[in-house]
Amino acid sequence: MSNRSIGLDDRLYHYLLGHSLREPEVLADLRAETANLPEANMQIAPEQGQFMALLARLMGARRYLEIGTFTGYSALAIALALPEDGEVVTLDRSAQWIATARRYWERAGVSGRIRLEQGEAQDSLRALERNGETGRFDLSFIDADKTSYPDYFEHCLRLVRPGGLILIDNTLWHGRVADAQDSRDNTRAIRDFNAALHHDERIDLALTPIGDGLTLARRR
Ligand SMILES: C[S@@+](CC[C@H](N)C(=O)[O-])C[C@H]1O[C@@H](n2cnc3c(N)ncnc32)[C@H](O)[C@@H]1O
Repeated sequence: MSNRSIGLDDRLYHYLLGHSLREPEVLADLRAETANLPEANMQIAPEQGQFMALLARLMGARRYLEIGTFTGYSALAIALALPEDGEVVTLDRSAQWIATARRYWERAGVSGRIRLEQGEAQDSLRALERNGETGRFDLSFIDADKTSYPDYFEHCLRLVRPGGLILIDNTLWHGRVADAQDSRDNTRAIRDFNAALHHDERIDLALTPIGDGLTLARRR
């Protein structure tokens, strides 16, 4: 995983940030606090958060479903881009980082529009479908365990409305997807997932080199 866009040297990356990043202070502070954690590289890059927020605004998204909360950066970036009556539903099995996430959501004044469901994501996704949430999300973001991506994608295809957008993180996986010598489980999982999406007629597709690779799949 990576919390900066790959494929750019330091000079160009700092130019990109210096000439486009408009990170609200609350997000910058959350990023600084998360940087002290051993798992800090799980957080999305700030330019990715800004890009996702722009997509949410472009679409006029009101409901956002996220798989993988961590310390709450992507949930907060999108919550800030939603209208007053917008809603974020974010799923994570770990309780470890919830207090941090909630502290920043409160500080940003958007905690009322973020619902965190703790537990195995597959269980929460099944529950959402059982509870009549099918087709009721505008935007979703898959950013949890890589071997479950195909299952998460199928759930998102049902939970997102036609014309809605599914974002998938880490689809370039540090470049390892293109290394034929790399046959580790996560690499193979993402490689197979990318290959399946390439020919999936249910979606419009783009794989962008933002962050660690961000795939955009629009449900047809
Ligand atoms: C890459 S981090 C998410 C980063 C987050 N989107 C951000 O912007 O900082 C992945 C998260 O997925 C969670 N996760 C991994 N496997 C999971 C599973 N099977 N069910 C629910 N959550 C899971 C982890 O606990 C971790 O917090």
